[in-house]
Amino acid sequence: MKKDGVTIIAMSDIFEPYMIRDMLVRNRFMRSATTSAFSDENGIVNDSIIKHYERMSKGECGLIIKGHLYIMDNGKAHNGMAGISNDAQIPMHKKLTDAVHQHDGHIAAQINHGGVVHVPDRAGPSVYGEDDWTSRAFSGDEIEAIIEGYGDAAERAMQAGFDAVQIHGAHGYLISQFLSKHVNKRQDKWGGSLENRMRLLLEVYDEVRGRLGNAPVLVKMNSDDFSPDGFTIDESVIVAKAIAAKGIDLIEVSGGGRGRQVDLRARAKNPDYPELDFGGHAVKIREATKPTPMGLVHGFTKLETMEKVIEGDLTDMVSMSRPFIREPGLVKSLKGGAKGTTCIRCDACRANFGVAMMQCLLE
Ligand SMILES: Cc1cc2nc3c(=O)[nH]c(=O)nc-3n(C[C@H](O)[C@H](O)[C@H](O)COP(=O)(O)O)c2cc1C
Repeated sequence: MKKDGVTIIAMSDIFEPYMIRDMLVRNRFMRSATTSAFSDENGIVNDSIIKHYERMSKGECGLIIKGHLYIMDNGKAHNGMAGISNDAQIPMHKKLTDAVHQHDGHIAAQINHGGVVHVPDRAGPSVYGEDDWTSRAFSGDEIEAIIEGYGDAAERAMQAGFDAVQIHGAHGYLISQFLSKHVNKRQDKWGGSLENRMRLLLEVYDEVRGRLGNAPVLVKMNSDDFSPDGFTIDESVIVAKAIAAKGIDLIEVSGGGRGRQVDLRARAKNPDYPELDFGGHAVKIREATKPTPMGLVHGFTKLETMEKVIEGDLTDMVSMSRPFIREPGLVKSLKGGAKGTTCIRCDACRANFGVAMMQCLLE
């Protein structure tokens, strides 16, 4: 289209700003939390990590979720994970958030506790084991201390300049361990019924909301564990509704927990969106939680699909991880005419779990 001699390129909604609580994000692109495993032994991020975040912001990503941060020392899930468990970690996080803000991006801190994944004191909802390890069960007092730990971490995130906090409720870490009957065999108020299994997530939300006041609080949660006896989409819909009713500011839909089986993944698909791994489950969560803002992650490749998702109102935000490892400037390049990402999801970027992640090894 030409107006007063100037060519105007019609942009789709995906490049338009979007309001999450009082945070006006410059477009509908979200970088899903992605850990680098490059932090030092005290959980402090370094300048090479900061540079990557700066590149994503300069590349016009709207909302960046920082790779998961352990809320307390016994919640660290792997070597190299960054922390938000003490004040000494704040200055480098501040440097990172400043670098993002300098280019008009927004950034949320994803706060997490590894639960049974934590080494060497593996502990979670119940005694639980995989091939070569077993965890113990947390006591009721320890669970209360963890909830407080989430609140302390959220406050530190604000001091470090993050615009929002995302509670990590997915991927087989502590909160999703509690949600899943595959892992959670407790008989007390934290286990058994779904109402009890979701108590930890809801209490963590209340604690974080109480500490943050009006700042946006987001959650990443599983639509499905893909475990034969785990957390299902029907349960996920109920949990999503409960957290939406409490006032969560955005639900990022994901999937996969402990005990997952690759062959069960097909049940989350949607033939209308073949490249999206959880497109079918997303429809159900959307129906149950609208108008709560929602994001979806896992599989986005073509701009055409991203636009269809936003214009068709399947979700409000399009979230990606691996594509931003390969192309921190992805959003700008899509805006400039690229048809999608050049990431082929070979997974080399996470092959060295806890050693050298967030590096694209593709030529
Ligand atoms: C190297 C790497 C690190 C990741 N770290 C996190 C993390 O810290 N927190 C999280 O919620 N998900 C993490 N993920 C999962 C991604 O956020 C995302 O859910 C998944 O990669 C699917 O999205 P994609 O198809 O766009 O890559 C990680 C993924 C990769 C490849």
